[in-house]
Amino acid sequence: MTNKLKYFIGNWKMFGDFGSFKIIQEVNRYIYKNKRLDKKKIVLCVPNTLIHFFKKKLKSNIISLGAQNCHFHEGYGAFTGSVSATMLKRIGAEYIILGHSENRLEGETNQIVKKKIISALNQKLKVIFCIGETFKEKKSRKKFSVLRKQIKSSLEKKFNKNQIIFAYEPVWSIGTNKIPKINELENIIKFIKKDFRILFKTGNSPKVLYGGSVNHKNIKSLSSITEIDGFLIGGASQSAKKFIDIIENYYK
Ligand code: PGA
Repeated sequence: MTNKLKYFIGNWKMFGDFGSFKIIQEVNRYIYKNKRLDKKKIVLCVPNTLIHFFKKKLKSNIISLGAQNCHFHEGYGAFTGSVSATMLKRIGAEYIILGHSENRLEGETNQIVKKKIISALNQKLKVIFCIGETFKEKKSRKKFSVLRKQIKSSLEKKFNKNQIIFAYEPVWSIGTNKIPKINELENIIKFIKKDFRILFKTGNSPKVLYGGSVNHKNIKSLSSITEIDGFLIGGASQSAKKFIDIIENYYK
């Protein structure tokens, strides 16, 4: 059992309805009872349609809620079908996932991610900034240069880095049941932290989560990498039992 308290952040993607409140309740109850967890570090990023509803229904507000994306324009504007960081903050989001590969695959560039980060930070949302290489990039040994470019093009020196948590999510590991080899993953997490320190001339490393097919079975081997500050969990966070099992097994 490791004593360092980690982030466990769920990404529900395009799943969930009002009935899913029972998942929130169950996780909330679990966190409430479990003294050894850092309550501020358990987050569920749910669809926008549910944030306000969950927030209002939660009597003892322990779990934090987050969104999964936003438009880069702050405030309000003529952007049909979009939601801004301003609107998400107002309905109770505390966190926001930005730069997720599922959005990058639909055309979101590093520059767009940067604009989104700016508006989220202005709204005092905590940003979960996703980076990661595709299988092709991994095979052609471009992994490190891709990660460096994603970091360099989306962040600026003046950003409040305390509000940004990195999530390393190799695209080929998302929803595939494949995770990187432990020693490879350890090197990548170290690389991200070091590169960040060099790029932004700081002695402080960012928090870096791992995401991609995290489940209650592989969490034990992932827990051996002490440099990982937590996990971004997709599929398994859509079930209270699976999400709680991951946390339980991590600290076992
Ligand atoms: P997964 O998704 O855990 O289902 O692989 C992770 C993510 O997309 O954030």
